[in-house]
Amino acid sequence: MGQEIMERIREANEAVITGIDDADIKHWVTIYIMGKAYRVPADITLMQAIEYAGYRFVRGAGCRAGFCGACATVYRVAGDWRLKAALACQTRVEDGMYLVQIPFAPAGKPAYDLEKEPPEGSVLLRYFPELARCVACNTCTKACPQELEVMDYIQAALRGDLAAVTELSFDCIQCGLCSIRCPAEIVHYHVAQLARRLYGKSLPVPEHVEERVREVEAGKYAEEFERIMSLGREEIEELYRKEQREKGGLKSGDASRVTRNGRGEG
Ligand code: SF4
Ligand code: SF4
Ligand code: FES
Repeated sequence: MGQEIMERIREANEAVITGIDDADIKHWVTIYIMGKAYRVPADITLMQAIEYAGYRFVRGAGCRAGFCGACATVYRVAGDWRLKAALACQTRVEDGMYLVQIPFAPAGKPAYDLEKEPPEGSVLLRYFPELARCVACNTCTKACPQELEVMDYIQAALRGDLAAVTELSFDCIQCGLCSIRCPAEIVHYHVAQLARRLYGKSLPVPEHVEERVREVEAGKYAEEFERIMSLGREEIEELYRKEQREKGGLKSGDASRVTRNGRGEG
């Protein structure tokens, strides 16, 4: 069984990276994008499947690697009543999945001047009084694709514990999936970001950071910055590919995008 799954994943990867012919793909699933059925190779990601189905991402995709939080998607699977949330670039398709990409959570963000705020926990409640409306339903935690203890960091914010919010929210990628489910209309990631900024303000600056700032100010990297800024788009893309290859993340000829024919765009 494990071997079959590995074979399916290998096949899926080949389907989207090297562009093997549809006739050579043995495993397929049917998914529904905005209500329309599409047959796509099994085990590719939601993002790859959406592109395989012929859609092009103009918004709603950034890093394609689980870091930027731009690809928030909600879905249901036939026979399961639960509304689920996922990052499209990190989640593999399942047969009978009904999915739709959502607009970014229209979350309000209060304006503040960090320089003028003391590094104290009470600042959080002043800017986000809705924290007091948390009913501890834990829906935010269940929605988080980063598997963070979101409710716990909101409770820590309510207590004004900046260190705990920083620790618990450190891997937040600001996808907004927690906020779209919260009955108290809390904007979790903005709360956590302010907490981390305030906490960061309270910490001493490490010597190696001071040293790097001195180097930047003394112009140590000016020549390299200027060289990069003078490059054209194609040169920048080639530089990126070269660095990815050196890190082992991109093989020669790999596509950074996947299209219906599987050949990719770049
Ligand atoms: S805490 Fe919220 S915004 Fe941050 S990663 Fe989790 S769901 Fe996304
Ligand atoms: S979803 Fe909102 S109300 Fe429910 S636990 Fe999370 S922050 Fe509190
Ligand atoms: S595209 Fe950046 S997290 Fe999915």
